[in-house]
Amino acid sequence: MTSLRIPVPSASLPSPPPPPSHHRLRLRLFSSCPRSRTPLLLAMASSSPPQLPELRQGIADFYDQSSGSWEQMWGDHMHHGFYDSDADDVSLSLSNHRSAQTRMIEESLRFASLLDPESKRPKRIVDVGCGIGGSSRYLARKFGAQCRGITLSPVQAQRANALATSQGLSNQVSFQVADALQQPFPDAEFDLVWSMESGEHMPDKPKFVKELARVAAPGATIIIVTWCHRDLSASEDSLNPWENELLQKICDAYFLPSWCSAGDYVHLLRSLSLQDIKVADWSPNVAPFWPAVLRSALTWKGLTSLLFSGFKTIKGALAVPLMIEGYKKGLIKFTIITCRKPEQAPDV
Ligand SMILES: C[S@@+](CC[C@H](N)C(=O)[O-])C[C@H]1O[C@@H](n2cnc3c(N)ncnc32)[C@H](O)[C@@H]1O
Repeated sequence: MTSLRIPVPSASLPSPPPPPSHHRLRLRLFSSCPRSRTPLLLAMASSSPPQLPELRQGIADFYDQSSGSWEQMWGDHMHHGFYDSDADDVSLSLSNHRSAQTRMIEESLRFASLLDPESKRPKRIVDVGCGIGGSSRYLARKFGAQCRGITLSPVQAQRANALATSQGLSNQVSFQVADALQQPFPDAEFDLVWSMESGEHMPDKPKFVKELARVAAPGATIIIVTWCHRDLSASEDSLNPWENELLQKICDAYFLPSWCSAGDYVHLLRSLSLQDIKVADWSPNVAPFWPAVLRSALTWKGLTSLLFSGFKTIKGALAVPLMIEGYKKGLIKFTIITCRKPEQAPDV
């Protein structure tokens, strides 16, 4: 396994140091989606509702419509697979790809040091943006933990609960419709806060990260696996026009608001005094995934299932080549970011 690590000093200072100059956060926190030009820093300061209602509804409808057809083809997980970076994607079978999705969970835990022999096993887990609950059920079994999952999609929450019941896990895991930006949980509730490919949907990244930190217990681990755009170079103030255009099309297809970079996330985590911040670009390790999604959509089963799952799902499928292009051109970065809430937590 190879993963590209961006060295990030751990942040344990009570007040955050200025971001590294190459992050240039303030200059760059503008929407990558041309439709919405709201600076993220304005969102940070604003008291407006945390989610634009139409975006929330769009996300809910998208997953309500597409989850059944995705599950039919791909099973439990609506996230990328993790592959050896030299994997030959064409020779991999669908079951190889499904195993790669499970491996994504394992590699994320390993990256966060939760598989170290001396590390404490999580017992109370929140799955933020849980899909049909694949990660929750996996983590509940692996750690004997209690898991709570939240999603915007009523269809997903219902299906996740049904699967938990049918798999004898209903006393360990449960799912509900709730907003990640206003989580229905008390402070300091969980010792693992898990967000697998939901961050890209969040219109207010500072609020998102703040909520993750709020529900984390002292000493808890936070794992964010998400799509980012590339970090800007020191001489850049924004992405190139063609990059913005490409992201705009992806935003339209998948109900995504502004994108940010890995460096932006690091800055946000540091501003909350979170510790042991680690970041890696796993783009080379997910490269076979989208070509496999495209191939699966072009099978008879894929095509018929798409036809019956509605316009939003078809639009999502048509955007798959754009994701492939975004990765190939180095614009999209599949990013893992992990950190720990200090034992003696300052208010976040
Ligand atoms: C790509 S799916 C990932 C699902 C799951 N984590 C997995 O790995 O299978 C994105 C998920 O994020 C959820 N989501 C997006 N925005 C959300 C929000 N504001 N609050 C809660 N869930 C959200 C969606 O409902 C969906 O379940």
